Amino acid sequence: MLLVRDLAQLATPSGREFPLRGDGLGGVDVIEDAFVLCDGDAIVAVGAMRELPPLAGEIYEIDGTGCCAIPGLVDCHTHPAFAGDRVEEFSLRAAGASYEELHAAGGGIASTMRATRAAGEDGLRGAVARHAGWMRSHGTTTFEGKSGYGLDRETEVASLRAIRAAGGIPTWLGAHAVPPEFDGDADAYLDFALDAVLPEAAPLAEMADVFLERGAFDAAQARRYLQACKEAGLALRLHGDQFTEQGGIPLAIELGARSVDHLEATGDDGVRALAASDVVGVLLPASALFLNRPMPPARALVDAGAAIALATDFNPGSSFTESLPLICSLACTQLTLSPAEALAAVTVNAAHVLGRGDLLGRLAPGYRADIVLLDAPDWRYLAYHLGGNVVARVVVGGALP
Ligand code: NIG
Ligand code: FE
Repeated sequence: MLLVRDLAQLATPSGREFPLRGDGLGGVDVIEDAFVLCDGDAIVAVGAMRELPPLAGEIYEIDGTGCCAIPGLVDCHTHPAFAGDRVEEFSLRAAGASYEELHAAGGGIASTMRATRAAGEDGLRGAVARHAGWMRSHGTTTFEGKSGYGLDRETEVASLRAIRAAGGIPTWLGAHAVPPEFDGDADAYLDFALDAVLPEAAPLAEMADVFLERGAFDAAQARRYLQACKEAGLALRLHGDQFTEQGGIPLAIELGARSVDHLEATGDDGVRALAASDVVGVLLPASALFLNRPMPPARALVDAGAAIALATDFNPGSSFTESLPLICSLACTQLTLSPAEALAAVTVNAAHVLGRGDLLGRLAPGYRADIVLLDAPDWRYLAYHLGGNVVARVVVGGALP
């Protein structure tokens, strides 16, 4: 058994429901002078130290003095399977070039694709493991990872295996961009991807994703790709409304997708439609910040009753950050969410997007023993300490990695 004791505070989203919406998103239970007790990989009790029952047998103790415990963070949208970097493009953007211009000129996703193909499976395994370690040190105990920088059979399959090997939940982003060998013919590329890659990707992945955007895939192509993936047993995700509204929200609703992600360009109709649906809006404020784009309409979505989650969108081109605490800071300073809403959006609701809302995202009996200890006297430092090194220690499945 593992006992984390003498915590300054323990904070966890209230109740057991998922996903949380509207006022429910802001419900957090806080226990002062708290403990968490785990048996194997599960939490068995939480409470105030004065209620700690007498314990027998072998118990490993962690002294939580001066720290706050929150649930392990869940990053439900990352692109960790890449090699190389885009630091040169980052400099060009700093000098005024736009992300879409660089993409159209053969840079962007295509440039990462070249480096990723050249890395081979061993190189990719090393890269994903390194990126997963960065995430862990920022409090992420579960991450989803997308392929999408291979765009050929071998490298897409190697990416999914590398994500699995690093403990991530794999998503086949087979429709991220049209690779150069298809000369801009998105339909011909999709024929290839669905015939030659899907049969090998489906048993390795849990979800499928598509970049629905001007210059990538249109709504008819996204529908075809997602429908085939759904028939192969994959849950569905969509990159939608990043730069322009191209029908991502209606398509996500029509196909029963788990989520539609980005939403920087979403207008009032999209907000209303999403709020009336079971699809989660995954907001990626670091991507908006990194590309100097408008922020997604987070407040309007929550107030209208939509379920939202927050994620890093970790990738080399549009969001080179692995820090969910930073995302929580951006949520509070840029999206006008409260620290409690941000916490629920990177725990319970993110776990729901990954199909694990009953197991992950809370510090309560029966949930997996994934715990983040914050080096802080108040749990809201998670969002308050902008860019700070706020994570002191991480427990994953009852163990110290
Ligand atoms: O979520 N928008 C598409 N895909 C990624 C960025 C990929 C890249 O620039 O390498 C995103 O922002
Ligand atoms: Fe993304």
